[in-house]
Amino acid sequence: MLRALSGETVWPPPVWLMRQAGRYLPEYQALRRRARSFWQLCMTPEFAVEATFQPIARFDFDAAIVFSDILVVPYALGQDVRYEDGEGPVLGMLPELDAMIGDPDAWLGRLDPVYEVLRRTRAVLPSGKALIGFAGAPWTLAAYMIEGRGSRDQRAAKLFAYREPERFGALLAMLVDIIAFHLGRQIEAGADCVQIFDSWAGGLPETMFDEWVVGPTTAMVAKLKTRHPGVRVIGFPRGATTTGYARYAERTGVDAVSVFSDVSLRWAGEILHGKLGATIQGNLDPVSLVVGGETLDRQTDAILERMKGIPFVFNLGHGVLPETPVAHVARLVARVRGAP
Ligand code: CP3
Repeated sequence: MLRALSGETVWPPPVWLMRQAGRYLPEYQALRRRARSFWQLCMTPEFAVEATFQPIARFDFDAAIVFSDILVVPYALGQDVRYEDGEGPVLGMLPELDAMIGDPDAWLGRLDPVYEVLRRTRAVLPSGKALIGFAGAPWTLAAYMIEGRGSRDQRAAKLFAYREPERFGALLAMLVDIIAFHLGRQIEAGADCVQIFDSWAGGLPETMFDEWVVGPTTAMVAKLKTRHPGVRVIGFPRGATTTGYARYAERTGVDAVSVFSDVSLRWAGEILHGKLGATIQGNLDPVSLVVGGETLDRQTDAILERMKGIPFVFNLGHGVLPETPVAHVARLVARVRGAP
């Protein structure tokens, strides 16, 4: 995984899946019942370490991603975060900006359990497997913090940003700082590389994509790499346009770009890798993993065929869906590793 992120072509390619720990696994469901809630699971190291390992034990993925959530950062900043069953996360009122400015290290004390999960996981994870830390990107977190919940078009966040550009800019700048610290703390605790999830990078006007996605990510990656030279960073600006992905790969300083399922891998190979030097990660349609069989095999083979000879990490275009049969995941991993 780390060699692929450093620009080497590794074949068969390393494979892991976004949301590889989660509700599609019966052992996760059992653990979640023991922990009582998703939040208790995240914040109790014994439980979260177990959740991190479950997909490695079952499928032998090449990388483990720490079991946590992107919304731990708003929580660390003092915003109320709740996970309601079947509804997704719900956040309380956006705190005053002044109340969120200060020493990032002090804020991040609330996330000590997350760093403990990384320390314990790295101590027992085989050396050949990478441990991935992660965070939400400034734009996606700002949108959650303003809207208070997931939304289809981020209308409230955009209204805020257009109407109060200075206040919004200050919110983004504060998030750049604290997220860079949060990623740095994860690396210090044992993460071998990190992924930045910009789940809501789609649907933005070009200039806003540059201002809210590319700019803050560039500043954040620069801060992180100043403190941790050589750390490998994967960026996932989900739903970006092709020109958006290209500007993202060119400017942000990420080593790898994770692409959504609608992105042409021929284009990604030629431009994001060939011209801009990025490792490519992606991009199997999560729905084909639910379906399995020939549909899954054909799509898997097409991706492998396209990416041969290119630094590549096999993944989905987005997270594993809860209704995914575990047998299909096992079949996928075997197929990526060359099974007929
Ligand atoms: O296995 C892994 O990938 C590691 C853990 C991980 C989780 N969330 C655990 C989780 C990661 C990397 C995330 C990222 C995340 N969280 C994103 C970015 C990726 C994306 O999907 O676009 C976002 C937007 C969130 C916020 C979030 N957390 C939502 C919208 C939800 C509810 C909807 C859903 O998919 O369940 C969560 C809860 C959550 N985070 C669960 C898990 C396993 C489900 C909790 C449960 O019901 O047990």
